[in-house]
Amino acid sequence: LDKAEADCRAVTAGEITLPRRRPDTHKGDYGRDLIIAGSVGFTGAPVLAARAASAAGAGLVSLGVPETIYNIAAVKCDEEMPFPLPCTAEGSLGGLAVYPILDRLKKADVCLVGPGLGRSQAAREIVFAILKEAAVPVVLDADGINAVSGNIDILDEALAPVILTPHAGEFKRLGGNAEGGARLSEARRFAVSHGCILVLKGHRTITALPDGAVCVNTTGGPAMAKGGTGDVLAGMIAALVGQKFPLKDAVLAAVYLHGLAGDLCQARYGEYSVTAGRIIDMLPEAIKTVI
Ligand code: APR
Ligand code: MG
Repeated sequence: LDKAEADCRAVTAGEITLPRRRPDTHKGDYGRDLIIAGSVGFTGAPVLAARAASAAGAGLVSLGVPETIYNIAAVKCDEEMPFPLPCTAEGSLGGLAVYPILDRLKKADVCLVGPGLGRSQAAREIVFAILKEAAVPVVLDADGINAVSGNIDILDEALAPVILTPHAGEFKRLGGNAEGGARLSEARRFAVSHGCILVLKGHRTITALPDGAVCVNTTGGPAMAKGGTGDVLAGMIAALVGQKFPLKDAVLAAVYLHGLAGDLCQARYGEYSVTAGRIIDMLPEAIKTVI
């Protein structure tokens, strides 16, 4: 066993609990989530992330998308609040989007950026601006991760906690190695050296914390290997972080419940027919088991 393996903890049923809600609360107690996502050709990712955030308890979810796909997001989201952002001729986020985003960031409890965002220069600069300006935790997923790849020092400039949720390919682009035995120690090395929370996704997702602690998730299976399931996890992490649970507990609970919802879906729909939307619809069943 290397050191990371020796210090690693498995997250199993019984270790994750969420509190009951006080009866006299209102939506302001459960977080204002700001999600920046989507581009032409990626209209599903932002909606899945936003709907997952609502289903995981977020009080208010605002979803900023390039104006070219705003109507699509607006039609699909009844419970969230999509808003249009300036975009480029190609239909991805434009440089001017930085102003409304930074303005809304001031009123948010958490910011998720990246699902389906695309890899334009403007998108990258907006991710940098969010990292530099945010006073609240920032979740980077998908193209939010790709934006900082190759410019990893930007993570040191973040004032607030940063949570990254790469799959193996995205982790490689960050300079990590998710192959076989290196997974644990590499995840830990990254989290410690960049002072962030790293959620290295895949079978047995690893959560590595900046203090060197590493946890291995025990839920989730092959039915979840399908486009959109990662967007659901990103929205769930934002939701639990936005509800102000301690950061580590929020991330571990989101990862555990996402996998559990996947397992419950697999039992109901079989290994082939689980979809990201069905995982969102199964969240109530998963969450009920931990309250
Ligand atoms: N066992 C357990 N969990 C699994 C398994 C498995 N065999 N396969 C997948 N999962 C889980 C992962 O742990 C993760 O939470 O499903 C999720 C998949 O997330 P992603 O790999 O991010 O996939 P997704 O985002 O849905 O789609 C891929 O998004 O990130 C971009 O570049 C990426 O375009 C690609 C697209
Ligand atoms: Mg993904």
